[in-house]
Amino acid sequence: MPIDLPALPYDRTALEPHLSGDAVERHHAGHHRAHVDALNAMIAGTAFAELALEEIVRKAQGAMAEHAAQAWSTGLYWRCLKPAAAGGGGEPEGRLAEALATAFGSVDAFRTQFDEAALRGFGSGWAWLLRRDDGRLAIAVTPHAVTPLTGPDTPLLACCLWEHAYLPDYGENRGKYLEAFWKLVDWEFVASRL
Ligand SMILES: [Fe+2]
Repeated sequence: MPIDLPALPYDRTALEPHLSGDAVERHHAGHHRAHVDALNAMIAGTAFAELALEEIVRKAQGAMAEHAAQAWSTGLYWRCLKPAAAGGGGEPEGRLAEALATAFGSVDAFRTQFDEAALRGFGSGWAWLLRRDDGRLAIAVTPHAVTPLTGPDTPLLACCLWEHAYLPDYGENRGKYLEAFWKLVDWEFVASRL
């Protein structure tokens, strides 16, 4: 069965002014679709065609694994965002807020440490909030298509650090993009993965 490109969970212009409709469209209908299409071409006629996307990410090697990981991670990224008008951004609540404060000192300190890690990350990749298998929360930055899904950690929040995510709106200013990202995070969704 082919892997579907998931529809955006909001209108492509709904993340404005933080992410423009053009940038979202290019990221989703361009980059995200390209990974799904490339993956479908590779799995056609193989045993991988019977697997769910998560299983392909865990079991494939090489370019197939990279396209699968990008397809999966980008799907998570879209779901981690929510239009500001619909409640995106703001502050996490309840158990997630407590867990962030326990792990990082405070929610603000978490955002600061996440930003620092994302800005240190060299080249294309991803920034993550993870739940380690012992339950602790941690920040990780992975290069290129590498995703925590292949290890024991549970990714709770994903931030695409590929230039295509921010170049259209913020040029090479990854910091400005991260400011925009925090104004769109769907904390309820992130908390639902805890
Ligand atoms: Fe991306």
